[in-house]
Amino acid sequence: MSARAPDAGAGMAAGRRPSAARRIRQVIIAAGQCLLVACGSAPATPDAMIAVMQTERPPRPINIAHRGASAYAPEHTLAAYRLALEMGADYVEQDLQLTRDGVLVCLHDTTLERTTNVEQVFPDRFVEVENESAGARRKIWRVADFTLAEIKQLDAGSWFGAAFTGERVPTFQEALDLVKGRAGIYPETKAPDEYEALGFSMEEQLLRVLAANGLDTADGRMRTPVFIQSFSAASLRRLRTLAGATYPLVQLIGAAEKGLLTDEGLRAVTKYAAGIGPALPLVIEDPSRVAAARRLGLGVHPYTVRAATLPARFPDATTYMRHVFEELGATGVFTDHPDLFPRDATTGRRPHGSGSSSAG
Ligand code: G3P
Ligand code: CA
Repeated sequence: MSARAPDAGAGMAAGRRPSAARRIRQVIIAAGQCLLVACGSAPATPDAMIAVMQTERPPRPINIAHRGASAYAPEHTLAAYRLALEMGADYVEQDLQLTRDGVLVCLHDTTLERTTNVEQVFPDRFVEVENESAGARRKIWRVADFTLAEIKQLDAGSWFGAAFTGERVPTFQEALDLVKGRAGIYPETKAPDEYEALGFSMEEQLLRVLAANGLDTADGRMRTPVFIQSFSAASLRRLRTLAGATYPLVQLIGAAEKGLLTDEGLRAVTKYAAGIGPALPLVIEDPSRVAAARRLGLGVHPYTVRAATLPARFPDATTYMRHVFEELGATGVFTDHPDLFPRDATTGRRPHGSGSSSAG
């Protein structure tokens, strides 16, 4: 890794509370940057985004395109990422897996059969595993058993719709080539411990690619802000050891990690992360968890708002997201619908090409 720029998130990531003067300075910087962003005249900067996570009332929350604009295009394809950019996402998420030859690719599952035609192209390349629910055995096609050249033969779009036939599984580098300079990136280390057991360090690979793209420098992150997320605290701690405070880290919290939402758990998270990404039901059932995290200086980016699975009391995804920001106090959200992100005086930059007039 090359020399790291002084990082506004360092104090927060190390669990120290910023001084009052520093906090005021951060709010002013963040507000200025976000005004520029809201006017569409400047990209979000990493320092501004980190300041947003630190302030108790951030100027505006961030719009994170979950697996791209995955309500409208097949998840983790360049089509879904492109659409997310067109819809004005602040960040585009990439879930990461590793191929047999050690290349980072963007795919949610550790297996290929749900989102590609691997069963047709490589019918004999499965392994059989126990099916937890039925007690029977089932066939899976593991990403780690295929080279990048083999994975590139797969169709990753047809399962979603005929219009997307021919979409491929993108490498992380291809995702960066598309998104860099146009929005932030939000990679997630998926199953890092499984890959560790196969002899790979997903964290080292990720940091290598980020550095090769200049994102280990303040200048690089000025144009392309970066958050790195994981459900694995061990993976985030490894990243912290390898990269210091270069990148703000986000601890994902699902049902299995629920213990991290206690005061003690959240305090432990502040030692290595700048924020948390809790499953939405966990903070809907107990909104005080967001406030507790914010009091400790952690940003809060819950997942995932999707129109098909809204809680009954919300009429639409926009209203739900507005509740997540204005009532719960979250500082960002993962959504399959970056176009439905609430946009008003304080939230959301406009979709590309929509000018500076208000957008719904
Ligand atoms: O990373 C936030 C959210 O994406 C976590 O859930 O399963 O969609 O990766 P998942
Ligand atoms: Ca994810």
